[in-house]
Amino acid sequence: MALITLIYVSSAVRPLTNSDIQDILRHSREANAKSDITGLLLFKGGNFMQVLEGDSELVDELHQKIINDSRHTGLITLIRSPIPKRSFSDWKMGFKNISQLTEEEKAAHSDYLDRPLNDTSYISNPNEAFILLQAFKNTVR
Ligand SMILES: Cc1cc2nc3c(=O)[nH]c(=O)nc-3n(C[C@H](O)[C@H](O)[C@H](O)COP(=O)(O)O)c2cc1C
Repeated sequence: MALITLIYVSSAVRPLTNSDIQDILRHSREANAKSDITGLLLFKGGNFMQVLEGDSELVDELHQKIINDSRHTGLITLIRSPIPKRSFSDWKMGFKNISQLTEEEKAAHSDYLDRPLNDTSYISNPNEAFILLQAFKNTVR
C-alpha cells in the first residue's frame, strides 16, 4: 500500500448550517472507515481546509468525488505526497469549526487565525497548512 497525504482548501457555495456539516461528517466517517482514510476537516468563515491520509488510489478516488461535490467550489490542492506514516490516525474525519474558538485557543494559534483558510500564503507555503491542521488535531472530536 502506498500511503499518501493530501491537503486542499475550498469554499462553501452558501452559508452552511450545522445540519449541512453533520451530513458531510456522517457520510465521511462511515465511508472513510471502510476505506481506512483518516484526516481532519477545518471550517472557518465559509472556507474548508481538509487533510486526507490513506492508500494513494483510495485517496485520489475520494479527492475526485470531493472536487465534484457541488456544496463547495474553488478547490485548490495544496499538498499530495507520499508519507511514511499517518499523522491523523485516530480520526476517520475529525472536525473543528475554528470560527468558534475559546480565547485560549485563539491566543495559541494567533499566527494563523487572521488569515482565511484559502489564503494564498498556504499555496506558496503548503507546509503551513499542515502545521495548522496539526495544531488542532488534539482539540477535535
Ligand atoms: C468539504 C467536504 C469534505 C468532504 N469530505 C469527505 C470525506 O472525508 N469522505 C467522504 O467519503 N466524503 C467526503 N465528502 C463528500 C464527498 O464530496 C461526496 O459527496 C461523497 O464522497 C459521495 O459518496 P458516494 O459516491 O459514495 O455517494 C466531503 C464533502 C465536502 C463538501
